[in-house]
Formats: sequence, C-alpha cells, structure tokens
Amino acid sequence: MKKIVISTGGGDAPGLNAVIYAVVHSCYKRGWEVYGSRSGYGGFLDIDDMKRLTLKEVAGIYSMGGTILGSTNKGNPFSKPVENLAGEIQVVDMSDRILSNFNRMGFDCHIAIGGDGSLEIANRFAEKGMPVIGVPKTIDNDLQETDRTFGFDTAVSTATEALDKLHSTAKSHDRVMVVEVMGRDSGWIALYSGISGGADVILIPEIPFDMEEVCEKIADNDLHGKQYSIVVVAEGAVTKDGQIFNKGGGELGREEVVLGGVGEYVASEIRKRTEKDTRSLVLGHLQRGGSPTTFDRLLALRFGAAAVRLVQENIFGQMVALANSKMVAVPLADAIKARKKVNLDSDKVLTAQDIGICLGDSEGKWREF
Ligand code: F6P
Repeated sequence: MKKIVISTGGGDAPGLNAVIYAVVHSCYKRGWEVYGSRSGYGGFLDIDDMKRLTLKEVAGIYSMGGTILGSTNKGNPFSKPVENLAGEIQVVDMSDRILSNFNRMGFDCHIAIGGDGSLEIANRFAEKGMPVIGVPKTIDNDLQETDRTFGFDTAVSTATEALDKLHSTAKSHDRVMVVEVMGRDSGWIALYSGISGGADVILIPEIPFDMEEVCEKIADNDLHGKQYSIVVVAEGAVTKDGQIFNKGGGELGREEVVLGGVGEYVASEIRKRTEKDTRSLVLGHLQRGGSPTTFDRLLALRFGAAAVRLVQENIFGQMVALANSKMVAVPLADAIKARKKVNLDSDKVLTAQDIGICLGDSEGKWREF
C-alpha cells in the first residue's frame, strides 16, 4: 500500500484535471491511497486543505478545464510572505514544516504538477529528501526536456480559432488586427497559432522586431490587393532596440513580471506609420480556459499514469516527459535549468518564412541559424 499526494501549482492549464484523474485511477488499481493538496502546498500546512481523492471525486473530470485542487503562482513555500502579530509582512521559509508534515502524514510520494516555477520548488523539496515526481504543465510549452507540456495544444487551438474569426472582420473593414498572445519569454503559442491562423506577421521574443519591417509587410499586402492584415504578437516580444513590455514592474524572468502591452504598442506604431485603421486585442486568460483538446487530454492522462508507474518502481526526483512520442523520465533538475525557446532552425520557422509571414526581422543575427 502506498499513500500519494498530488498538488497543482502555478498558472492553471487545460489538462490538470486529466492528470489528477489518471493518477487517482492508476493508484486505485494498485490499491493505493491518493490525497490532493489544495492550492499548491496548502494541504501540508492546514489539514482542512488536504483532501482524500476517491474515484467519486474524480468522476468525469478528465475533460474539465482548471484544477479541482486550486492553484497559485504566489507564495513559494521557501519564501512565503506571512503577516506577523504586529501586522507586518515577513518572508518565512515554510519548507521544513511542509517536509515534516509530509512525513507525519505518512506519504510515500508527492506528484507535483507544474511549470518551471512549481517544478523548481518541487526539486528543492526533492533535494531535501521528499520523494517527488514532476509532471510538466504550462500553456507556454517552455519546459526543457519534454517535447510538449500539456495545456499548450489547447491554448494554440484557442488562439488559432480567434485568428480565424478575426479574418472576416479585418477583411470587411480593410483593417489591421493585432493580437497579443501569451507565452512569457517563449514564442511557441504565437508561432504555432500564427502559422495555423493565417497571420501576416508573427512577432516572438526569440526574434527582436523592427517596426519598419512589420509595416513593409502590411504595405506589401496592400500592394497585392490584400487590404487587411493579421499580426500576432507574443506578450514577451521585444523591439530591436531592446524595449520590453512589462506591466508588473518586476525583474525579467521572475514571477512578479506581468507581461503585456506590446500588442497595443505594435498597433499604435502601425497606425502612425501606415495610417491604416488598426485595432488590437489581448487574448489573455482565454488561452488558459476551457476543456483540454484531445491531444492535451491524452498527453495529460499519459503523464499521470506514467508518474504512478515511476512511483511503483521507486524512481523519484524525476519528471515524466514526452520524447519522440514516448513517455520517458528525466531528472527534475535538468527540466528546470532554463526555459525552452523556439528553435530558430526548426522547420516551423522555415515554413513561416516560406509562406511569406514576416517575423519582424529579415536580416538579424537569428538568420544564421
Ligand atoms: O505561464 C502561463 C501564463 O499564462 C503566461 O503565459 C502568462 O504570462 C502568465 O501565466 C499569466 O499569469 P497570471 O495568471 O498571473 O496573470
């Protein structure tokens, strides 16, 4: 008999519930018990937030968006802001308390479902002696060591569907529509949805952009009788002279950074430089919502079942991953070393160029790839 605890951390992503479903069912088959910790590590600090997960609890959840356990991208337990008796906020390290409660509750393994931030925390617990297995989640697809994270496919589908809808209104008004999509410092969502959704311009963080080139593409469209254009901008895109768009004011690469605003910037520059009627919109959290696509569902179910197989083999400190269509285990520490960027020599980038999409810089250094 084993006793497993699952947590979901960071921003939610479609497929979280499918992982929970697969873990609970795989454990049930083996006669093991499963608990869910609410809002990340909440259940290790307050027993009311530790919930037994039975088959009844997870019935039908594999197709639901969000997470039945709740999630947070605030309150790293290694540096958690806590209000003291004097009403002051103090940063406290709760990790020892969490670890001793984990042991006291008699758990054999913690299955941590998260993106780079949550898996970095999970890895720190692994280093302290907690048996941990990571499951790669994020719509951004920016985790190393796995070909895909679950949630990404759904986000791309949502963005592509939005682009499809924008074509008709853009065409009716001869307008330029600028769409800002998520993805933090990686351009995966922008690139995949932009190519699939017929964008004329795709701007990603990996290729700092030049407004001159963006406007040239729009002028070229006009010249060839296509009076409207669709521009997809990743929230983390930067200008050639290094301007970034951070509403949060925090340090880049850290959680407190709230990216946003680049879409409106690009739209206002287009308006100024081309005098075309231009509108911008931010897809925002729509990309995180809704049911997971079949691809994400299946991937999430496979990840959950694979995680339980690792527990059975007593293999810990690993993350389940997708490599060449197969389920594999990779060291958690390797997965969080750096964020995965769009590889500029990939055929997707070449495809974008070949079908005439402007990537914001036709001459830059990235072309050496
Ligand atoms: O990491 C997932 C993500 O959706 C990013 O694409 C985005 O920058 C961020 O989370 C938004 O986070 P929040 O939910 O805190 O607004």
